[in-house]
Amino acid sequence: MKLMTIDDALSMTRSELRKTYSDYVNPGFVKLLGLVNIDRHFVRASGVSIWDEDGAEYYDFLGGFGALNFGHNPPEVLDAIERVRQCPNLVKLDLNPFAAALAHNLAQILPGELSRSFFCNSGTEAIEGAIKTARIATSKPGIVYCERSFHGKSMGSLSVTGRPQYQERFAPLVPECYRVPFGDLDSLELALNQGNIAAFIVEPIQGEGGINVPPPGYLRGARELCNRYGVLLILDEIQTGFGRTGRMFACEEDGIAPDIICLSKSLSAGVVPIGAFVTTPEIWDRAYGSIETALLHTSTFGGNTFACVAGLVAIELALTRKVDENAREMGALLLSGLSELAERHAFIKEVRGRGLLIGIEFAEMKGALDRLTGGLASQLSREYAAALVAGELMNKHRIVTAYTLSNPNVIRVEPPLIVNRNHVEALLQALDETLTRNKNTLGLAVSTSKTVIKSLLSRR
Ligand SMILES: Cc1ncc(COP(=O)(O)O)c(C=O)c1O
Repeated sequence: MKLMTIDDALSMTRSELRKTYSDYVNPGFVKLLGLVNIDRHFVRASGVSIWDEDGAEYYDFLGGFGALNFGHNPPEVLDAIERVRQCPNLVKLDLNPFAAALAHNLAQILPGELSRSFFCNSGTEAIEGAIKTARIATSKPGIVYCERSFHGKSMGSLSVTGRPQYQERFAPLVPECYRVPFGDLDSLELALNQGNIAAFIVEPIQGEGGINVPPPGYLRGARELCNRYGVLLILDEIQTGFGRTGRMFACEEDGIAPDIICLSKSLSAGVVPIGAFVTTPEIWDRAYGSIETALLHTSTFGGNTFACVAGLVAIELALTRKVDENAREMGALLLSGLSELAERHAFIKEVRGRGLLIGIEFAEMKGALDRLTGGLASQLSREYAAALVAGELMNKHRIVTAYTLSNPNVIRVEPPLIVNRNHVEALLQALDETLTRNKNTLGLAVSTSKTVIKSLLSRR
């Protein structure tokens, strides 16, 4: 037996890393990243920047899928964790003071009566807890959710994630989950009026589904319908929370408060895994208010010292750095720059979003290449255009972006909320050059990697 050390991990070359990851973690993922040649070996990170093993600097416009609102490795968070290194991280038979303080602070910044927190370790766990809480508090089973939603991949969350491709192979899922179109209040009313519904779960702006902003008034309308039919409103602010959309929480834009809110990602500044759902004292007490029910829903690592200390500092950073204001300002700059690019490049079909949660949707490619490939080029561009553009941005311009999970034709622009004008202009210029250089997606593919089209075609 030969065990690898931290030093071994630190000194791996890119090809050693590929092999070890492929052998012991996930070979398919290694191949997927290899298709557009974007598996850099990053060795250092700070703020908006990450550096590869050759010392080249990249701007991170992916921001850990929304977990890095305050940038990579915020020193304030790392210092705070260092400060409490003598404290027990886990005892479990005590009342952790950092969990109490974090829950207290969340109650100060969340809207409405949201003030009882349950801490866990990821987004999907926050959703699981919210669904269970809705069921136990209402004694009803049904959960209504939206098409193209993304709430996570554990069994309960998957059952309310509106992407059949993720769900089908794991059937049967949790029963009594009903899907409705996103943004459509008439369909929502029909679904809520069944008598057996505990909750409606929704993202204020859909992230993984392609950065979809609902029509104005949708959240407020949903709130009213939930009140009318005695259904709890669960808002998933796992990706939209902590300043991302230009407000501390996206629901503030609509002036509403949910009955349960789910948080994760930037809640601990992306340094320590954390998740939480927060509800009202009334709903909490209905669900877990007695000695018998107090521990019906638990998690070993939930509320541990390091995660909660990171959370305390993350909230402080969000408030003192005014990251919501910067998200509004830089988001407006980016959106107007991207809209201007969309006028010049037909390949950009649409630009949408709010604050620094922005999606760029690419058009389908039609024409000669389609005739040559029997329609496959179009299918390729529909499914992989965003990945190909992301590959170009990474390889030629050292800018990290990615497509959205449920809509691979959309690039998500979701940088740390501390980006400045220089970062924004670098992205706009890189995108302009990429789209000028490559008039169609196949051109992009070829310039990104000679083998990409062959590999993609052979996978079908
Ligand atoms: C809105 C939303 N909900 C839930 C999740 C699931 O979070 P996790 O990956 O931590 O389980 C995500 C992750 O991207 C998300 O964006």
